Amino acid sequence: MRTFTGAMIALITLAIFSISCSKEQTLSSITSPDGNLVVNTALNAEGTPIYTVSYKGKTIIDTSAVGFEFKGQEYLGKNMIIEGATTSSKEETWEMPWGEQREVENNYNELKMSYSEQGDSPRKFNIFIRVFNNGFGLRFEFPEQEYMTDVLLLDEHTEFALTGDHDVWWLPGDWDIYEQLYSNTKFSAIDAIAMRDHPALVATYIPENAVNTPVTMKTDDGLYLSFHEADLTNYAGMTLKVDTQNFKMTSELVGSERLGGKAQLTVPFNTPWRTMQIGESAGDLIESNLIVNLNEPNEIGDVSYFTPMKYVGIWWEMHIGKSTWDIEGSQDMNTYIEGAKNSSRHGATTENAMRYIDFASENGIKGLLVEGWNTGWDQWINTTDREGVFDFMTPYPDYDFDAVMAYAKEKGVEVIMHHETSAAPRTYEKQMDVAYNFMKENGMNSVKTGYVGKIIPEGEYHHGQWMVNHYHKVLTEAAKKKIAINAHEPIKATGKRRTYPNAISREGLRGQEFNAWSPDGGNPPSHLPTVAFTRMLSGPIDFTPGVFNIKFDEYKTTNQLNTTLAQQLALYVVIYSPIQMVADLPEHYMVDGEIHPAFQFIRDVAVDWEQSVVLDGEVGDYVVIARQERGSDNWFVGGITGETVRAQEVNFDFLPEGKTYTATIYKDGDGAHWNDNPTAYAIETMEVTKDSKVTIPMAAGGGFAISVMVK
Ligand code: NOJ
Ligand code: CA
Repeated sequence: MRTFTGAMIALITLAIFSISCSKEQTLSSITSPDGNLVVNTALNAEGTPIYTVSYKGKTIIDTSAVGFEFKGQEYLGKNMIIEGATTSSKEETWEMPWGEQREVENNYNELKMSYSEQGDSPRKFNIFIRVFNNGFGLRFEFPEQEYMTDVLLLDEHTEFALTGDHDVWWLPGDWDIYEQLYSNTKFSAIDAIAMRDHPALVATYIPENAVNTPVTMKTDDGLYLSFHEADLTNYAGMTLKVDTQNFKMTSELVGSERLGGKAQLTVPFNTPWRTMQIGESAGDLIESNLIVNLNEPNEIGDVSYFTPMKYVGIWWEMHIGKSTWDIEGSQDMNTYIEGAKNSSRHGATTENAMRYIDFASENGIKGLLVEGWNTGWDQWINTTDREGVFDFMTPYPDYDFDAVMAYAKEKGVEVIMHHETSAAPRTYEKQMDVAYNFMKENGMNSVKTGYVGKIIPEGEYHHGQWMVNHYHKVLTEAAKKKIAINAHEPIKATGKRRTYPNAISREGLRGQEFNAWSPDGGNPPSHLPTVAFTRMLSGPIDFTPGVFNIKFDEYKTTNQLNTTLAQQLALYVVIYSPIQMVADLPEHYMVDGEIHPAFQFIRDVAVDWEQSVVLDGEVGDYVVIARQERGSDNWFVGGITGETVRAQEVNFDFLPEGKTYTATIYKDGDGAHWNDNPTAYAIETMEVTKDSKVTIPMAAGGGFAISVMVK
C-alpha cells in the first residue's frame, strides 16, 4: 500500500516538473516510491545532459554532467536535444535461490530520457534512471541508429558532484586488483597514487588519482552513501577519478593497451548501471538490495546442484608455510626456492586429503578444497610466460585423484575443484570445456578459480573489458555444465549473481591470506569493520574465516591474525558468503586431543539465510548482524569491532513473538586482545525471547558469535 502511494506521488511529481524552464532547459524529475529521493535531469546551456539528486529536500548530488568520447568522433554530450521522457514503475518480489535473504523486494520508479544531437548526423542515447527508496541507478542505452555502429570507447564521463568534503572509505582505482587496505580520509585527502606498487601485490596498476567501487562515504549530516556499478557486462570496469578540490568524481574506465581504448562496442549496447546507495544508518547500506535489483532475473534456471556449505581445505597450510603447492617443494607463500626439489612438503597428498575428509565428515562440514593437486605449480608465479602451465586434469603422482574422490564420497564430503589460471585466461578458455567435463564426471559441482599475476597478454588488466568478458564466459560455460564459480582475483561483483546464481562467491578484497604472509603485517583490526560496509555491498565474499591458531608461531614468527578467536567465529555471520571456509588446519582445532569447545559454533552456524538484519554498526568501527537460517527458526548473530573495546548491547527484538530460544554466546574472554591475548574466550548459555537484551564485551580486534536455537 505504502509503495503504491509512493508510485502515485512519483508520477504526479513528474507531471509537475516536466515543464519547459527555458528554451535550452527542460527539467524532468523522478521520485522514489516513498518520495524521499528525487533525481532531476535537464540540459545545460551547452546542451549537455545534467542531473542532480536530493534526499528529503536536501541536495546530495549537485549538478553533474554526462558524456562520452569515442575514437575518431567528436565528444558526445554537447548540443543535445531531448527527444522524449517517459516513466514507468515496478513493484515485485523475487526469490534468491541462496542468499542473505529469501525474498527481495524490487520497487522503483523509472525515468527514461532520450537524447539526440543537433545537426546533420545526430548520434543518440537514452538515460534510464531508476529511483528506489534507498538509492538510484543510472544507465546509458545506445539504441540502434544511423550514425553510430562499431565504436571504440575512449572514456565515459559520468560525474558525481558531491556536496561536501565527506568522510570516505576508499580503495585506490587499481586496474588489476582490489587487495589493498582501505583508507579512511576526507574526500579532499584521497591520494591513490601513494598506494602504488604495494610489495605484496604481484599485479597492480594505479594510473590516476581514482578510487575503485564500492566506495562508501559519510556526510556531515550523518547520511551514508555508497557508489558502485551494477550489471557490468561487455564493458570495462569503472573507477572513479577524484577531483579533490571540487569534491567531484568522474567515471574513468579501465583501459586496454591492446585495444588503445576502454571498450570495443557495437551499437545497440547498454552501459552498466552507475549506482548510489543511501542510508540513514550505516547498516542500511548492508541491508540494501539495490545492486542485485539492478540486474536481470535468473537466466540459468535451477542451481540446486550447488548447496551452500562450509568447507575445509588443503590451503591455509601453504599460506602459513607448512606445506607447498608443488611436489618439487618450492612453492609456499613465504618461500620461493628456485630449483628446490623434493622438500617433502607437498600439501596435496592422498593421505593429507583423507585426513581433511575425516575431519570434515566428523564435524558435519560438507566440502573439501584441495589446492596443489595438479601439475604445474613449480612454474605458476615465476615464469614470464605462464601460458600452458596448467591443464586442470593431471594430478601429481602423490595425489591419487580417484582414491581421494572415492573416499570423499564414502564419507559424504563433496570435493571442490581448484583451477589456478595464473592469469593466463587464453589457456583456461582452451581447457575449460574438458576441465569442466572432467569435474562433472567426478561428481564435482563447484570450482575455485584464481588469477594471480599480471594478465597474459600484456596490455590487458584484470578489470578491463577483455577480462570482464572472460569472467562472464567462465560463468556462462560453467552454468551450461551445472558448475558453480568462486573466483579469486576476480572482477568485482556487480550483482550478476541474480542472473547467474552459479556465481556463488568471490575474493576481490584483502582476504585472510594476507594475515599469513603480507609484509605489512596483514589486515589491521579496522579492516573487516570497513569491508562490511564497502566491499560486502557488492556481493558474497570468500574471506576464509575460522582460524583458531592466531599466531602460528611454529611456522612463521613475523605474521599473525590481528583478531581474537571470538571474532573469527563472528565472521561466519558478519561476512556473508554461501560457502564459508573452515580455514585452519584440523590439528589447530584440537586441544589435548579434544575438539576446541568454541568449534561448536562453526558446526552449528548456517550458511543460507531466510533474512538478515543489521543490528548496529559504524563504518570502519564495528558491526553487528543477525541472520535467520533458511528453512528453520534458528538465528545466528555476529559482532566484530576494530581497535575499540566495546560493551555491545544486543536487543533480541528481531525474534518472533512468543518463542523461547537457547542462546549460546561465544565471546572474548577476560583480558582478550587481538595481539596480547587473542585466544581468551568464554562461552555462556542463556534463555532468550523477543524481550531479551544482553550486553556483551568486545575486546580490541574482538567480537562475539551467538547461536540462537529454538528450544
Ligand atoms: C590466490 C588465492 O586468493 C588463494 O586463495 C590461493 O591459495 C592462491 N591464489 C593459489 O591459487
Ligand atoms: Ca588473492
